[in-house]
Amino acid sequence: MQIPIYKPELPPYEVVEPEIRAMYASGILYPGPFTDRLVAEVQEFCDVSYCLPVASCSLGLILMLSTLSRGSKVIMPAFTFNATLQALEWNGLVPVVVDVDENGQLSAAEVRACLDEHPHNVSAILGVHMWGNLLDTYEFDRIAAERGIPMFYDAAHALGSFDDEAVAPGSATCFSIAATKPVSAGEGGLIVTNDGDMFNVLQDASSHGLYGSLDTKEKGINGKIQEFNSILAYHAIQQFDKTKSRRRELMEYYRANLADVPVRIWETREGVDPSYKDCVLFTDSRDELDAFLQSKGVGTKRYFDPAIPDMGSFEGIVHSADNGRKLAKTCLSLPLYPALTNEEIEYIINIVRSFFKGTNDTSV
Ligand SMILES: Cc1ncc(COP(=O)(O)O)c(C=O)c1O
Repeated sequence: MQIPIYKPELPPYEVVEPEIRAMYASGILYPGPFTDRLVAEVQEFCDVSYCLPVASCSLGLILMLSTLSRGSKVIMPAFTFNATLQALEWNGLVPVVVDVDENGQLSAAEVRACLDEHPHNVSAILGVHMWGNLLDTYEFDRIAAERGIPMFYDAAHALGSFDDEAVAPGSATCFSIAATKPVSAGEGGLIVTNDGDMFNVLQDASSHGLYGSLDTKEKGINGKIQEFNSILAYHAIQQFDKTKSRRRELMEYYRANLADVPVRIWETREGVDPSYKDCVLFTDSRDELDAFLQSKGVGTKRYFDPAIPDMGSFEGIVHSADNGRKLAKTCLSLPLYPALTNEEIEYIINIVRSFFKGTNDTSV
């Protein structure tokens, strides 16, 4: 059996086809009526005032952080995808790495300790909603407000995660709608905020910083999303209840059927209804288990190894990173997507169980 690590959850072709035809006929290929429709939908879905669709979440994060002074410090987690770090690098910001807890969530206590240790020149905090398991945004927003700095969220995994009915966007939050994400449009990002000034700045920056003329007044870039991606994203949101309930079901199945083997799966923070972006387990035998699964045709990913301070390009300050480094060396993502069949998940579970029993029998 060959099981890929992910399969995008696409809307039925017959649903999108008339809209693709209409887009062709209109000749409007980049921000137009389908993008306007997506914006309205996301504002309602996330209960936010503003949404700026962009070409990718990576670009959205770069835009958000472009509002900060070059050379200033930004607090970020020790454990995340390299795009989080790269958003700082592109803006000439100095990462100050702070540790995460055993579920990969930035520690509020460590952030406070770090701010006490670095009282000067910290211009923002960048949190990550790891695997859709939301941070306590109320706590982080409070910490940032106490210091008078913005709180940004990398929510690449978290479109469709809810906490108290919505995701509090802090100063600004960026979701990913890339092909591997629960709401998938191939590529794209969605910045959300309740701050009208922030929205205006980011909107101009995402359109070359032109402010309506051909003279660049501020730094900017081409960050526009395409109509095709907006069509897919809109329909992915429409079908998200179904997508999420299957993701939840699969995740619970993994948790229940791997409860008695020596692996740990991340736990949902109380009160959070996550998007279930990834089923990530942790084990000291990660490398061997990974090789075994792959030899049996099961796609895996080491989300996210190495830890941020151990990345080749890293130049910054490490406040604390022990947990992040441990997670990086022990993490392994298993397939988790609605198209995964019951037979396939059973096969994967049996391989993991068989690995720990020391047998080569996948029917255990
Ligand atoms: C934590 C995190 N941040 C940012 C990104 C970048 O998202 P995109 O691929 O839409 O640029 C990813 C992508 O997987 C991610 O995992």
